[in-house]
Amino acid sequence: MKNVWLHRYVVLWAFCTLFLVVAGGLVTSHDAGLSVPDWPLSYGKLMPTMEGNIFYEHGHRMVATTVGLLTIFMAVWLWRAEDRRWMQNLGWIALLAVTAQGVLGGLTVIFLLPRPVSIGHACLAQLFFSTTVAISVFSSPSWKRGSIMVDDDGAPPLHWLAIGAPLCVFIQLALGAAARHQAIGILPHVAGAVVATGMVLWFTVRVLMRHADYDSLRRSALALVSVTFLQVFLGIAAYMSRLATAEAPQPMPVMVGFTVAHVAVGALTMAASVVLSIQVFRNVRRPMPAMQTARIAIPF
Ligand code: HEM
Ligand code: HEM
Repeated sequence: MKNVWLHRYVVLWAFCTLFLVVAGGLVTSHDAGLSVPDWPLSYGKLMPTMEGNIFYEHGHRMVATTVGLLTIFMAVWLWRAEDRRWMQNLGWIALLAVTAQGVLGGLTVIFLLPRPVSIGHACLAQLFFSTTVAISVFSSPSWKRGSIMVDDDGAPPLHWLAIGAPLCVFIQLALGAAARHQAIGILPHVAGAVVATGMVLWFTVRVLMRHADYDSLRRSALALVSVTFLQVFLGIAAYMSRLATAEAPQPMPVMVGFTVAHVAVGALTMAASVVLSIQVFRNVRRPMPAMQTARIAIPF
């Protein structure tokens, strides 16, 4: 029973983290990063007047503090209630990641938004969210029911695609962060979208063609392909709205809405690719190397 509550808590923590990603995206899209010039306090206080862009910057810090506290509680709960040592370790890794993320956030303020730090902060946020979703999967009742172990002898091995797809999505996120913080132009990110979407399609179609009978694989593949298409649509909308409002004196709501949605669905795309890969590694038997198969086929 206690583990049911642990799972529910972890899911809540993952939702709060997604909300934090939205809050962070709002800071960048409103150009509010330097509206509070000091850190860890804000204008020397715990609670400054929440006016103008201070609302976004200090609001983001408040949500980040809440998620930090939720993460400490989650790590301690996992340590106390989990029998699996690797799950306990994952809890500590998440705690380490959120701490590093907080420090990076502080450094963006102290050093006046240096690009590498802002990009690092954006990328680690995405990885941290994926970690919260992975822990939700590992703590779920369906995970504890055990694996199904199906065969897949297609080429290339499905496990390769399970590594390649999240890797391509992550590179795509990093290119997006670099473009958003003006370290590079938008072209590498648009070209990357073709590669990342192609890779996701290859991976998901392969799973759906061969393993659609298995709920955990089918659902994860459908989720990944759906959020990826939504993400491409939002990317185009973010780009068009940036162009359309380029002359505006301040960030316009249409641009802010689409870019922040693109950042948040980017986090969902990364997490969905990680979940499908986890399901493949758990439920699909690795093909044996050719030599080993040959040896087994010949009895003596
Ligand atoms: C602890 C968990 C945290 C997470 C998951 C997180 C997440 C994010 C995300 C997703 C963004 C948007 C990045 C983008 O759109 O490119 C962002 C921006 C930002 N965050 Fe955080 N953040 C965290 C903590 C903090 C803290 C403690 C601070 C302290 C000051 C902070 C300061 C900022 C600033 C200033 C920006 C805007 C950066 C820019 O415009 O270049 N963050 N954050
Ligand atoms: C699988 C496909 C895609 C993924 C996973 C993805 C992901 C992302 C992410 C996560 C960011 C923000 C990075 C950060 O946190 O700072 C971003 C930024 C951006 N992306 Fe994409 N993207 C994809 C496709 C596209 C496409 C097709 C376009 C169309 C032109 C596009 C246009 C943009 C633009 C314009 C930005 C910067 C937004 C701004 O100016 O603030 N993306 N992308």
